[in-house]
Amino acid sequence: MIKNTPPMGWNSWNTFGSDISEDLIKEVADKLVDSGLRDLGYEYVVIDDCWSMRERDGNGKLVADSEKFPHGMKALADYIHSKGLKFGMYSCAGTLTCAGYPGSYEHEFTDANTFAEWGVDFLKYDYCFKSTIIPGPVLYRRMGLALKNCGRDILLSACSWGADNTHEWIRQTGANMWRSTGDIFDSWESVRSLTEQQENKLAYGGQGCFNDMDMLVVGMYGNGNVGMENHMNDTQYRTHFSIWALMGSPLMIGCDIRNMSESAMKILSNKEVIAINQDPDCRQVMHLDTWIGNDARCYARYLANGDIALAFFNLGESGTFVRFLIDALGISLSSGKTLEMHDVWTGEVFTVKNGTFLHQLDAYDTLMYRCRVVDR
Ligand code: GLA
Repeated sequence: MIKNTPPMGWNSWNTFGSDISEDLIKEVADKLVDSGLRDLGYEYVVIDDCWSMRERDGNGKLVADSEKFPHGMKALADYIHSKGLKFGMYSCAGTLTCAGYPGSYEHEFTDANTFAEWGVDFLKYDYCFKSTIIPGPVLYRRMGLALKNCGRDILLSACSWGADNTHEWIRQTGANMWRSTGDIFDSWESVRSLTEQQENKLAYGGQGCFNDMDMLVVGMYGNGNVGMENHMNDTQYRTHFSIWALMGSPLMIGCDIRNMSESAMKILSNKEVIAINQDPDCRQVMHLDTWIGNDARCYARYLANGDIALAFFNLGESGTFVRFLIDALGISLSSGKTLEMHDVWTGEVFTVKNGTFLHQLDAYDTLMYRCRVVDR
């Protein structure tokens, strides 16, 4: 059975690109366990592009690069499973992957069986070098159906970047998550742009198929494959993580967890933020209008136990002041109710007075609460 909350784990692409190996993947698996990240929910270890030989074998099967993965993928899957983790791999709906390795086009059932034989639990499925004749929905249906018939539960992570109106058809295909945005980079502009691209897609996320805002860049500090010179700082990483969590995106770590800063670990391991992301109801996210300044945003989400997740994200370069009426969340002044606010980043607890929430919000910063409905 595939769990019906946003998948969590680690993916090789953001930091390592093509520079991947069996040793690296094993070290990452070890670290997920030793650091406690596995027990917080980060369970998938995903090898992205560049893992295979340039050619299929004589039977048309994909073959792992024998230098990078000398013991083959089955052995690596066994190792990952022995650590209580799940194993993810990558292929593409086109003739080639985005980095030019063999794609699964016209080999969908063969490849799904190969992945099942190797013990794969998760398949990220890209959209480069795709057929110009066969439309995207059919390409994803092919792999979706092949995975459903391969004899193993394999989560399908569709990666067509929102192209060709992916949101209109991706749920048909059997995908469990779908990339709703373009590729992420370790810069504030990138996080801001992905957040804005997500705003009109919020209705499409949820149980069965989650909106995937791309792998996290928390803790990269400019290093690695999608690192940038103008990389983010810890405040910005915290906002990035909070947005992904509140919006119900999968949480796939992208930094080198073997050498992680304490502050990155603190961000990625915030249990209350993870609990909001993993809330079993996976309700639609609300975008709320309020007095907050043009560059800041207010989002909320009802949670399974009757609480509400509420967050204010400042995407701008200067501080602002938030004034928010909790009436928008369903608590009218005549109800006799108010909200007890639990700040998930500072631990502070307070009660909203007169139906109005007032707070300073610094540049790039986040205010995020788990709110409990209480008597006034
Ligand atoms: C695309 C995807 C990325 C990554 C690369 C690999 O760009 O969107 O997430 O998988 O391909 O080549």
